[in-house]
Amino acid sequence: MTALLCTAGLLLAWAVTPAQAEGDAARGAVLAASRSQGLCVLCHALPGQPAPLQGTIGPALAGVGARLGHEDLRQRLLVPERINPETLMPSYGRTEGLQRVAPALQGRPLLTPSQIDDVVAYLESLK
Ligand code: HEC
Repeated sequence: MTALLCTAGLLLAWAVTPAQAEGDAARGAVLAASRSQGLCVLCHALPGQPAPLQGTIGPALAGVGARLGHEDLRQRLLVPERINPETLMPSYGRTEGLQRVAPALQGRPLLTPSQIDDVVAYLESLK
């Protein structure tokens, strides 16, 4: 009986746990603007960043949370070449198949999975 209750409890916990951890939008905003980690501002304009520091290679990200959903934003960060094989945007989650990676950075993604969740939460907040 106890085992049965435990199993039922575990199943219930599994059923109510979201598929992905929720990211922290405030942490994601810091990562996106950071010049040593996200470096999104190299190519994108981000709301609230000083004008001379805004990139113009990619589209401005103001309002992107209204244009793209959670999974599209995640895919864009994890494997942008799946959306556009010619893209200039780097993959922030991939560690294989990259070119000219500095030895100290080999085998490490640009952002960890939880940092990607944070950046996605930030992008979703840009409505
Ligand atoms: C080296 C340049 C570069 C960097 C760095 C870069 N991106 Fe991009 N990104 C692009 C380009 C170019 C596009 C346009 C679409 C394409 O090429 O596929 C794009 C597209 C996007 C899109 C889709 C926008 C839309 O309106 O469809 C999102 C979201 C995005 N980038 C987020 C980010 C975030 C967040 C970061 C930082 C973690 C980042 N990008 C870093 C170049 C870059």
